Amino acid sequence: MSSVEHIIGLLLGTEDDWPRAFEALVRRLGAVPDAAGRSHQINTVRVTIEPFDLRDKPRHSLVIDRLAYWYYHPREWLKKVALMDDVYLLNSPFTFQSMEKHAAYCAMMRLGLKVPETVLVPYKNPLDNARYAYTAARYNQPFDLDATAERLGYPLFMKPYDGGAWVGVSKIRDSRELHDAYDASGGRLMHLQQAVEGYDVFSRSLSIGPETLVMKFRPELPMHDRYAVAHNFLDEAIGTEVVTISRLVNAFFRWEFNSCESLVRGPDVFPIDYANACPDVALTSLHYYFPAAMTALLRWSVFCVVTGRKPRLDLDTARYFEIADREDLSYADKLAEYRRLADDYFEADRYADFCASRLSHVDEMVYDWVRSPEFDTLLLETVRSTYPAHEHDHFIDHFRGLLGAWVRDRER
Ligand SMILES: Nc1ncnc2c1ncn2[C@@H]1O[C@H](COP(=O)(O)OP(=O)(O)OP(=O)(O)O)[C@@H](O)[C@H]1O
Ligand SMILES: [Mg+2]
Repeated sequence: MSSVEHIIGLLLGTEDDWPRAFEALVRRLGAVPDAAGRSHQINTVRVTIEPFDLRDKPRHSLVIDRLAYWYYHPREWLKKVALMDDVYLLNSPFTFQSMEKHAAYCAMMRLGLKVPETVLVPYKNPLDNARYAYTAARYNQPFDLDATAERLGYPLFMKPYDGGAWVGVSKIRDSRELHDAYDASGGRLMHLQQAVEGYDVFSRSLSIGPETLVMKFRPELPMHDRYAVAHNFLDEAIGTEVVTISRLVNAFFRWEFNSCESLVRGPDVFPIDYANACPDVALTSLHYYFPAAMTALLRWSVFCVVTGRKPRLDLDTARYFEIADREDLSYADKLAEYRRLADDYFEADRYADFCASRLSHVDEMVYDWVRSPEFDTLLLETVRSTYPAHEHDHFIDHFRGLLGAWVRDRER
């Protein structure tokens, strides 16, 4: 029986927790058979940065990227391996460099989703470009910021059109705060967005391929407490809607590893943040949910390399917009249609079958790993490198408690 080797590259910045977790799980995985009976062996390597010839052949079948959003040399390497070598990318810079929060809002509005009213305002400060003064004098229209805000209604949020990590995000309650925030925005391009007030639940979902983990989020708490351990906190229909919207946006833009935020108020789901090129999967953020996130990352990467799934750089917007533009369909009908397209894109059925037939041992394997000394060492070292010394004991107990709860819930 022939055997095929695949290398999964990890393109990393400062993170060490989840990469070590992922590497440990891949080591434990063993060979995976494909439908033809061939055996696939999977290994990981950390991608290093060095000169590359554009015609070099990479060793990697798939790369999980956490760096290219700010480090451009490896980003250009990713583009090269995507275009020339069909390397599968989580995520592809082609999809994230050109598409960000703003593009996601536009697409979601066109698809009929309940994105709060949003306006893009011009730069506060002149651009650093010799042509700016002439161009602005000729074409920039004077505008009344107050009138724009009043039309949206207070309170509202001002936030960068391509933002992340709360940088430059502020809640605006009145004209004074509006002007202060706009003055502070400087050279950053900003959205003004209606605030969704009095929501019942903030749901944050982490999607990897066709897997979506819907979690209850509490943005007002410190990071280690933001994800609540809560089950069944959404009724079934709303839960399905949150999953559908996440899968839809990801399939639409070819995003494979993304975290999405929706505010749920009564029967309505309002998507507010749907583009994270490098979603937070830190052990100290996800805690209880960390094993599930690692399981999904492992299963989806293995599925892609073993089945030889082809990366897609093209978008298929017309098929989605055909549904969006139909007047005979209700919102619920459209969601159901989008779900079919998105499931189809991510091969949801084939993936489920692959997990059941080829990766049925993974749940047990992850369970054993979380109970192992190796995992506890990872937890200790992660806490020590994340928090100041006087907090180590507290956080070690805190995270051991949460992972212990995960183990007990698995045993039920
Ligand atoms: N329209 C809105 N209504 C209510 N709250 C909002 C709205 N927009 C943003 N927020 C609040 O501001 C926070 C940050 O906004 P947003 O998620 O858009 O920015 P971000 O920079 O992508 O943050 P992160 O990377 O943490 O997700 C949200 O988590 C939410 O608490
Ligand atoms: Mg956000």
